[in-house]
Amino acid sequence: MKRFLIAGNWKMNKTSAQAVHYVKELKAQNLERPEDVAIIAPFTQLEPLKKALEGTGIALGAQNVHYEHSGAFTGEISVDMLKEIGVDYCVVGHSERRQYFGETDATVNKKLKVLLEEGITPILCVGESLETREKKQEQAFVCGQLAAAFEGISLEDAAKVVIAYEPIWAIGTGHTATPEQAEEMCSFIRGMMEGLYDISIGEKLLIQYGGSMKPGNAKDLLSKKDINGGLIGGASLKVKDFAEIAHIAAELAE
Ligand code: PGA
Repeated sequence: MKRFLIAGNWKMNKTSAQAVHYVKELKAQNLERPEDVAIIAPFTQLEPLKKALEGTGIALGAQNVHYEHSGAFTGEISVDMLKEIGVDYCVVGHSERRQYFGETDATVNKKLKVLLEEGITPILCVGESLETREKKQEQAFVCGQLAAAFEGISLEDAAKVVIAYEPIWAIGTGHTATPEQAEEMCSFIRGMMEGLYDISIGEKLLIQYGGSMKPGNAKDLLSKKDINGGLIGGASLKVKDFAEIAHIAAELAE
């Protein structure tokens, strides 16, 4: 059976009231495999969402975390704070955080470590810019991101990390990678992780594609051998679209 994780990355959208309303509507969509679905929400919505999602089987995730447990880091949120709420996932290294908020390969590595120590599953984002792809350096670039992200992390821990391949040129642009381009990179990532660790890690890893995934292209993308789901931004904001993608994945999982 193929494994999937369909995660809706809401980014900086929705108020808590809107978030709770969304869950009410999502419940009415009767997801076949809610255990394969997660909502990745802004910090202020995590607590109300945790309550709203109770008993649904749908997982909850944060969009960022600080790598220190506490201290003078104004505006930041620690892993202990996320753990207290009962968050299952946390996104690390999203390209928007790398671009606008100074996230580096070094901070990504520290964040992965603190999350793994505390039992929250990281969703690690990697992916190249258009310029890098035009120079045909996308594999070397992503290889560098992965090697730096996983430095000092054991095989056992590395196997727990969800990797999201998100080409920057496809995020929020409407320009989805073709299923072939997405599969080529997800397969490359699996192979690279097998090289970095051990051949046994390949079958354990969940590798998502992210970048303008929507109901219309989800089936072609999710049918690919090395694509275990999606990190979905824009399309996850609408309950019907998000549920449709989850239905497609559930059908393909069988
Ligand atoms: P998008 O965003 O689906 O709106 O392209 C994906 C992401 O950034 O995770």
